[in-house]
Formats: sequence, C-alpha cells, structure tokens
Amino acid sequence: MNYKKGLILVNAFSKLKSAMHQPVRLKDELKVLGIECDIKPCSIETAMIISGSSTSFLKDYDFIIYLDKDKYTSALLEKTGKRLFNSHEAILTCDDKMMTHIALSDKGIKMPDTIPGLLCYNKDASLQEVMKRIEMIEQRLGYPCIIKECYGSLGSGVFRAENRDELLLNMEKVKCKEHLFQKMINSSEGKDARVIVIGGKVACSMKRISDTDFRSNIELGGRAEVFDLPPSFKEISEKVADILKLDYCGIDLLFGESGEPVVCEVNSNAFFGGMESVTGFNVAGAYARHIKEIIYETKVC
Ligand SMILES: Nc1ncnc2c1ncn2[C@@H]1O[C@H](COP(=O)(O)OP(=O)(O)O)[C@@H](O)[C@H]1O
Ligand SMILES: [Mg+2]
Repeated sequence: MNYKKGLILVNAFSKLKSAMHQPVRLKDELKVLGIECDIKPCSIETAMIISGSSTSFLKDYDFIIYLDKDKYTSALLEKTGKRLFNSHEAILTCDDKMMTHIALSDKGIKMPDTIPGLLCYNKDASLQEVMKRIEMIEQRLGYPCIIKECYGSLGSGVFRAENRDELLLNMEKVKCKEHLFQKMINSSEGKDARVIVIGGKVACSMKRISDTDFRSNIELGGRAEVFDLPPSFKEISEKVADILKLDYCGIDLLFGESGEPVVCEVNSNAFFGGMESVTGFNVAGAYARHIKEIIYETKVC
C-alpha cells in the first residue's frame, strides 16, 4: 500500500473555538483510516510559494485540506499541482455571497431575488447619486428587505430594513464593502435548514430556529433541532454542491411560502461541531472517507 499524507491548513489568526475543533477532528478521523496529517497555520511556510521559489515544504504531502478562506494562498497552493479540499475555485465562489448567487442563477435553483450593491470607493459619497437604483430595489424587493455583506459570516453582516430610512441607514454602513440586496423570505423568518453535503451526497441536516432574531444563526442565539430532510431539500442541496464542485459544504436553505427550499447561502468551510452534537452524525468521519476515496483513485503529485 502506498501510504498518503495530508496537510491541514488553518487560518493564521482565528482563535474561534469551532475553527480550532475542526482540524483536530479531521486529523483523528483520517488517522483511523490510516492517513496521517499535520495541522499548520497558513503563515510562514505558505509564503514561500510566492514566485514559485520553494514548494519543498509540500513535498511530504499528497493533499491539502484547506480550512482557511485566504484566496491568494489557495490559488498559490493549487498552482503547485496539489489536490485541495475544497478547490480554490469552489472556496472563492462560496466566500462571496453575490458570486454564489450568480453561479447558481441560471441553473434552475430557487433563490431569493437578489440585486448586487454598487462598488463605492469613497466613504463620503452620497447615496442620492444612486436614488434610481434604490427605487428599483424598493420596487423589485419590497419591504422588509435584506441587506448583506458579501463576505459576512455567522449572521453578523446580514441586516433587515422595514422602510427607506432603515434601508439608507444600512446602505451607509456597508457602502464601501461588497454587498447585496435581497427579498426577505417572510415564511422563513427566524428559521432555516442547514444541510451538510459530502462528496455530492447529503450527509446530515438540522433545523435552526431563533425566537428573537430573523437570522437563525446559532452564534446569534438560535437553537438547532434534528430535521428530517424532505426529498426536495435533499435534491436541491446535492445539485448546488455539484454545480459549485464542492467536496464538502454546509448549505443554508430557507423555507419558501409553500414550504419549498430556497437557497440562502453555501458555506465551503462550514463548522460541523454543532451538527455532530445535534445529529450524532460523524461528519469528520464521512469527510475523511470521501478524501480517502479521492486521493487513492486520483493521481496526486
Ligand atoms: N433573504 C432572506 N430571507 C429570510 N431570512 C434570511 C434571508 N437571508 C438570510 N436570512 C437569515 O439570516 C441568516 C444569515 O444569513 P446568511 O446569508 O446565511 O449569512 P451568514 O453567512 O452570516 O450566515 C440565515 O441563516 C437566515 O436565517
Ligand atoms: Mg449562513
């Protein structure tokens, strides 16, 4: 048997408990399958790939589990020919909520109507300049509407506006950041489904409910329950993961007016600690099995 070894790369700065837990669980589950891994932060060593000067630190590794979202490092790593889980392109598309929306927009995937925010370089620019655009947002999306930072996570960059004053207030807040406007799916207020897809198949799912916020994120006080996924939710989740070529992801699905699934966002680096404790499903183990299957069937450098 030709033994393989992996490198798990994590963000250099993050001290989030869930982010620390993820690599350790994956390392342990891969070890059970006979695959050794090292866990390292994306710091000094990955800087050496710049200008292709040295990739020698990668020579011991057959694949990389990339738990960061630093797009420059993932692009450089993939240029060395190593297999990344997830791929650079998949991470890039999912990290930006507007790019995810565009990638899925002509594929028959139901999503809330969405309008991109305009790029603004100047914090003193007046929103009066784009009043026609604001009127269009009001006509197409109505109130309440959602304003989102394209690179937000854990619910912190998602806002709701009930009227023009609130819309302008939120627009001012996100003016110089990438952002989007979205129709509020009222039937899903304070609840959604989180679905984990691994290797193209739904692995497990849970429902997230908040009694105090329209956002169901656990980090904002939401709670999670086991959720028996209806077939339409399963089908759309697997289709999304396939279109975006994701080895692993966590998809947020809203509940449409007739209970149908509406894709809210796709997380390429979804934390799985909460999912494992709520469902009892071994997410890290399933991901480890997928990785093993790929690296032993593909020729890796
Ligand atoms: N268009 C929408 N309609 C209704 N609720 C929404 C909408 N968009 C987001 N939400 C709620 O806000 C939460 C956070 O939004 P999401 O796009 O998943 O951003 P984040 O990356 O911060 O989790 C969702 O889980 C959902 O509960
Ligand atoms: Mg989310």
